[in-house]
Amino acid sequence: MMDFKKKLGQELQPYMGEMSLEEIISTIEVPKNADMGDFAFPCFKLAKVFRKAPNAIAQELVEKIELSDAFAKVENVGGYLNFFVNRNAFAEAIINEVMDKKNQFGSSKIGEGKVVCIDYSAPNVAKPFHVGHLRSTVIGNSLYRINEFLGYKCVGINHLGDWGTQFGKVIVAYRNWGNKEEIEKEPIKTLLDLYVKFHDEAEANPALEDEARGWFTKMEQGDEEALSLWQWFSTETIKELKKVYALLDVQFDYYQGESFYNDKMDVVLEEMKEKKLLQESEGAVIVDLSEFDMPPCLVQKKDGSTLYATRDITAAIYRKNTYNFHKCLYVTDYSQNLHFAQWFKVIELMGFPWAKDILHIPFGRVTHEGRRIQTRKGNVVLLEEVLTGAVTRVKEIIEEKNPNLENKEQIAQDVGIGAVIFNDLSNNRIKDISFSWETAFSFEGETGPYVQYTHARASSVLRKAEMEVTSDFNPEVLTDDVTMTVLKDLQRFPEVIQDAERKNEPSIITRHIIDIAQGFNRFYHDHPILVEDVETKKARLAVVYAVKEVLSIGLYLLGIKAPEKM
Ligand code: ARG
Repeated sequence: MMDFKKKLGQELQPYMGEMSLEEIISTIEVPKNADMGDFAFPCFKLAKVFRKAPNAIAQELVEKIELSDAFAKVENVGGYLNFFVNRNAFAEAIINEVMDKKNQFGSSKIGEGKVVCIDYSAPNVAKPFHVGHLRSTVIGNSLYRINEFLGYKCVGINHLGDWGTQFGKVIVAYRNWGNKEEIEKEPIKTLLDLYVKFHDEAEANPALEDEARGWFTKMEQGDEEALSLWQWFSTETIKELKKVYALLDVQFDYYQGESFYNDKMDVVLEEMKEKKLLQESEGAVIVDLSEFDMPPCLVQKKDGSTLYATRDITAAIYRKNTYNFHKCLYVTDYSQNLHFAQWFKVIELMGFPWAKDILHIPFGRVTHEGRRIQTRKGNVVLLEEVLTGAVTRVKEIIEEKNPNLENKEQIAQDVGIGAVIFNDLSNNRIKDISFSWETAFSFEGETGPYVQYTHARASSVLRKAEMEVTSDFNPEVLTDDVTMTVLKDLQRFPEVIQDAERKNEPSIITRHIIDIAQGFNRFYHDHPILVEDVETKKARLAVVYAVKEVLSIGLYLLGIKAPEKM
């Protein structure tokens, strides 16, 4: 399609001295207020080049610049060149582009030939899968889809916490109070209950702690009984996790939990030793990072066991060797900032040039109704509770408002789960969010159900129209401000996706599709679509079609379904 911004850049270049086309394009802004034009070029940068005040330069340029038919006029406002597109050409170009690309509108090949590893979700076996893990799952999954849409080959990895001292505790608890059938029926909950019970009992009977440590040591030494229990706990947990992921429509290319690296760490420790990075400290082995104002990175405990960081270092090297990533993203909450900063530094000190390609993508904490989520005791909102709760709520609403809807179960699931995901991706990821049933499931305001509903509304108009939407429409019908606002947002969509990828920030897409939905609802309200006049009807239907397509792509990139009916 005609990329108006690029085209404007090209048309401006002859007047811009030495400035490169890229620089010109990146200087072009979109004015907040549409009365100020569709694009603006601030002349401040030119002041140095031409040795004149920006306003004088702008005035001179306004008189000199000759623009093609793609633009209707240019004005100088206080040193800004404000450009107005030719609305006919603009409407025609953007709608035709969407019609042409369909569900690939906004996709690109910029990532072609490059691999992006994404490490997300990564809950811990026998500990709760809480809304923090849900956030990692949802952000990681969206980043996966965004990167893939831009041509990257993605490798999604679930770095499950499937090794660690908690297993010693659960083994003790299981042997004392456990029940096989219960674990097989509800592994995540049952193992967590055992873990919690262990802590309760250990308060009164500290000897249990020693026993648990003993069992974990057995695991590390390859004891058959210990390992077979551990294996069984993990297998049952993964089975149940997969059900949850299916509900969320999230997949992983690999389940490579922490235990996957058990036999791969020796070599790495050896390599660190050769590179003279290791020091002894009170019997433990560390990498000193005081030079970088960080506490030491602990890689081996006194008893010889390895740590979370050792496994992360080993995993990164394994991933580089196996997948040869262009970048590797780690999606966790910001409480792990230091952990990542430390071991990233170790990778750098080991001399790996790809140290710059491993990136921590931190996100804010999730509190529940204002309270911190704790692991060991109470106040844990289990993932499944949230998801099934969401679906139940939506079902109730459907029963009340639209009881004859076909396919109710599926739609309740798509909308309920979509609401949770959308809520998680609504704000800058680094912001803390308070999870509350009220805001997550509200059907008004800036929520998932609102955008899904707008998509269903557009779908319904297209169904009722009983007329094929084609590129044979008259764009003159679409040049009013309200319609133009919608079209401009559609036009920016490809840029928005790339911005989201660069900043690893799905919320940029969330915000943008809210804008599109709001703009569309204004359009829908102001402009009757299924009217007698065929020319008007055809043109407006073309807008409806394009909006429906873009909303559905946007929702897809967030990991949310776009039902045709609601
Ligand atoms: N299991 C960890 C947790 O629940 C998250 C793991 C993140 N990924 C990683 N490679 N460290 O906090």
